[in-house]
Amino acid sequence: MKKKTILDILDMKNTGDKITMLTAYDFVMASILDEAGTDLLLVGDTMGMVVHGNPTTLTVTLEDSIRHTQAVARGVKQAMVIGDLPFGTFQVSAEEAVRNAIKLVKIGNAEAIKLEGGSERCTAVQGILDAGIPVMGHLGLTPQSIHKFGGFKVQGRTEETAKVLIEESKKLEKAGIFSLVLEAIPWKVAKKITESISIPTIGIGAGPYCDGQVLVTYDMLGYFDFKAKFVKRYLNLKEQILKAVKEYNQEVREDKFPDISYSYD
Ligand code: KIV
Repeated sequence: MKKKTILDILDMKNTGDKITMLTAYDFVMASILDEAGTDLLLVGDTMGMVVHGNPTTLTVTLEDSIRHTQAVARGVKQAMVIGDLPFGTFQVSAEEAVRNAIKLVKIGNAEAIKLEGGSERCTAVQGILDAGIPVMGHLGLTPQSIHKFGGFKVQGRTEETAKVLIEESKKLEKAGIFSLVLEAIPWKVAKKITESISIPTIGIGAGPYCDGQVLVTYDMLGYFDFKAKFVKRYLNLKEQILKAVKEYNQEVREDKFPDISYSYD
């Protein structure tokens, strides 16, 4: 299968083909998601929660993001790999944002980067684009701002806040982002944004009318004990792993594994 680029992703908005994105943090999972034909793999800063066990994404470092992006990029043949700029790596100045985005591409092998926030990020977006790196935006419940929001809360529920989200989407599009993640906003607001901009929107908890969808892979596989309204569990991996590991523990304890067939002569 041909390697996907931003041109394919942009084109999908015109053809109406839905874009699929999933998070990936390691080589093996990335190669499986890639083989399944997923369009975009996001090495999201959710790694801080599902891989490193922290309560938020705020503690993820650029080094974490680079290391996991390297592993994902090694597992991919056709999907486009998006590296996530962690909290604190792009907010201080546009120069720092450009420098860190370059590291994610140069050392991490990302093919584009994602950053959270609205028009306050436009200068950074333009700088990163000037360095030749495509940028994915992220609006709505941006987890790096949870303390400002007072927790993981749906955004854009009032007429004024919905209007702000629509305006911010347009400004980010104007700054040059190639796609926009919309997280935890009412579906009507996401629909309006999707109809108002010419780049693809990718929803998570933003309803069916976005140009594409993203889920945290560990959530949709039932590998991580997290169940929000927007998460559909396609598998109960935790249950299956528990069953397999309990069986292994029992067989070892009862001297059933390994038998001679698993042993060298
Ligand atoms: O970090 C992440 O995994 C994300 C997705 C949930 C969109 O930002």
